[in-house]
Amino acid sequence: MQTFKEGKASISFGQETFFNPKMKQLRDISVSFLNSVDIGEGKAIDATAASGIRGIRYYLETGCKDITFVDIDREVCAIMKKNIKANKVRGTVACQSFQDFANTCNEKFDVVDLDPFGTPSPFVYDALKICKSGTIIMVTATDTAVLCGAQKLACSKMYASVPLHNELCHEAGLRILINYVLRNAAQYDFGIDVLLSIADMHYMRVFIKLDRGAKKAFESVRNVGFVDYCNSCHDFKTTIGLAPEESRKCEYCSADMERAGPMWLGKLRDKRITRDIANDKGRMLDDYGLKLIRQIDSELETPFFYSIPMLTKYLKISSVSTNDVIAELGKKFAVSQTSFDKFGLKTDARISDILKAVKKVAKDR
Ligand SMILES: C[S@@+](CC[C@H](N)C(=O)[O-])C[C@H]1O[C@@H](n2cnc3c(N)ncnc32)[C@H](O)[C@@H]1O
Ligand SMILES: [Zn+2]
Repeated sequence: MQTFKEGKASISFGQETFFNPKMKQLRDISVSFLNSVDIGEGKAIDATAASGIRGIRYYLETGCKDITFVDIDREVCAIMKKNIKANKVRGTVACQSFQDFANTCNEKFDVVDLDPFGTPSPFVYDALKICKSGTIIMVTATDTAVLCGAQKLACSKMYASVPLHNELCHEAGLRILINYVLRNAAQYDFGIDVLLSIADMHYMRVFIKLDRGAKKAFESVRNVGFVDYCNSCHDFKTTIGLAPEESRKCEYCSADMERAGPMWLGKLRDKRITRDIANDKGRMLDDYGLKLIRQIDSELETPFFYSIPMLTKYLKISSVSTNDVIAELGKKFAVSQTSFDKFGLKTDARISDILKAVKKVAKDR
């Protein structure tokens, strides 16, 4: 048995319990996030709790006052109960599958945390049964190979979407995950407000607020569509709607475009929340976490980005500095870096202007 301190929690775990110390960063961000949003009465559920670390930290470090811990594994639950007691947390433990729990539970929660192994896909539909208007639902996916298109058919099976497998795959994966939550939420007449979305290391995680009402659901569904990607010049084009016309040719270089979706094409974060987390009042985040959140905060809201090495490759010229291209483009267009690619930029400029800027930077070098 090992004992580990993280935030205000002290937890023990043995061979039987999943615990990844590297996920501290994401747990820190989750704590900071919960301190930046309205969580109503603070009734929270840690739906795949393992050691209970999330629920325990939410109790000790956020406004969450009443925590339900669920895990399907008996041995894991025994350890979790000890951790809950040792940290003096007010909460209950349900040692059963989350799906069974949600189908027999007649309570609603303010905060729902889904952090399973691999894909969250088989949890989302049932999770919505214990949600109400205003519920914050946080969903982790570690099946990033699936969401990033290494296994295209697997993504269709789990998320009913076609993914990309190129430099845009992390952003596309997040948008597919959001669309999946929305797909399930909309049938219960919930709309979604995407407050924060992160793709980093081996995970993707979305933080979504649910809003009850058929009108809200319709509004959200209007943000779903496809992206067409050009494998030749690396331009892309997004189209709202579930029945877009036949796959198109690239307007710039006339090559056939690759289509991915359906996926969420709306915003990926709420700036009030990212600012709040970035201010880091509780000194919660380490340098890495702070940098990540600040990066997400400062990004343009436009879907997708251009990766400069892909463009220099297309132009058959040697590499140029992304910052120089940003400075050049910034003279005329809105432009920002992106958390999805350190050599990437988001902009409202068209591919012809971007390529012009890249060429200018290369010439002036
Ligand atoms: C990735 S771990 C959770 C890690 C934890 N949230 C943390 O931050 O350390 C996933 C847990 O989900 C549990 N689990 C798997 N299937 C489940 C199900 N259908 N219902 C509830 N728990 C489940 C596993 O036993 C495992 O302990
Ligand atoms: Zn093209």
